[in-house]
Amino acid sequence: TDRPRVLSGIQPTAGSFHLGNYLGAVRQWVALQETHDAFYMVVDLHAITVPQDPAELRANTRLAAAQLLAAGLDPDRCTLFVQSHVPEHAQLAWVMNCLTGFGEASRMTQFKDKSAKQGADRASVGLFTYPVLQVADILLYQAGEVPVGEDQRQHIELTRDLAERFNGRFGETFTMPKAYILKETAKIYDLQDPMVKMSKSASTPKGLINLLDEPKTTAKKVRSAVTDTDTVIRYDVVEKPGVSNLLTIYSTLTGADIPELEEKYAGKGYGALKTDLAEVMVEFVTPFKERTQQYLDDPETLDSILAKGAEKARAVAAETLSRAYDRVGF
Ligand code: ADP
Ligand code: NA
Repeated sequence: TDRPRVLSGIQPTAGSFHLGNYLGAVRQWVALQETHDAFYMVVDLHAITVPQDPAELRANTRLAAAQLLAAGLDPDRCTLFVQSHVPEHAQLAWVMNCLTGFGEASRMTQFKDKSAKQGADRASVGLFTYPVLQVADILLYQAGEVPVGEDQRQHIELTRDLAERFNGRFGETFTMPKAYILKETAKIYDLQDPMVKMSKSASTPKGLINLLDEPKTTAKKVRSAVTDTDTVIRYDVVEKPGVSNLLTIYSTLTGADIPELEEKYAGKGYGALKTDLAEVMVEFVTPFKERTQQYLDDPETLDSILAKGAEKARAVAAETLSRAYDRVGF
């Protein structure tokens, strides 16, 4: 196709995706498959940069793929695969590791954050070179655009530096990618602590919307979201972070814009907003949960989708790797 190519990945985390993952990333992936030649992967190679239980990793990888399909990724419209099924990722990563300066890798701020959590001495070398694997992920597909959040910008800069270095040293081989910063993307906050980003690791259980929770649990979490002592429903992230977060979620899930919602709830209390949003959430998560379960209950279909995805991905990745190997002198 002549559509611009995009590449993006998501980690196979334990349990379900949360609302931030969906509204902040996966939803855009679904939209991009209509306009782009999109490659999406579950990054299980990245997952083992921190200790993993094999059976859990395998289950979480399948669960992530099932959720991506349930969210609307269509294997006829995009290429969906599991990173470890395409050995070229690890192979190109080695070459890229050998082009990366130790100091350069040391400046990646995510390593500092992530290794601090485990104790710097216990962090694996894999965690240290994680950004270089990400470079290989992107360059293998000659992707022009990489949809990422602001926090990944530094890794895209590294990708550009290494592509330029390789091309300069060995001859034109890799497309220079650009970060496609998801600006319009909603950032979702913890329902109990709206100053903190909703996240698997940092959220309180009641503040985290897991997409595979029982719908009635989700409704309850929404109804007990922290707001403020005022009663006015107005979008104001500084004065009213809790209410603003609820409006963002409502708006993103329904397509209603925020001024429209402010008008709809003028003179009504927070209870009305929460009750309605709880209903919107239930309507979203109920079919999502059902579709995910359908894929999990039919492992043959899921395996066959992922096998076809890996085959499509390898057709591109193997060609790039073979050119790169040849250039390097292999
Ligand atoms: P977590 O922070 O829960 O560990 P990840 O870092 O694995 O989630 O994020 C996976 C994707 O979901 C990324 O593209 C990230 O930008 C997006 N994302 C995660 N949390 C949020 C959030 N609270 N709001 C918007 N997007 C988010
Ligand atoms: Na990502």
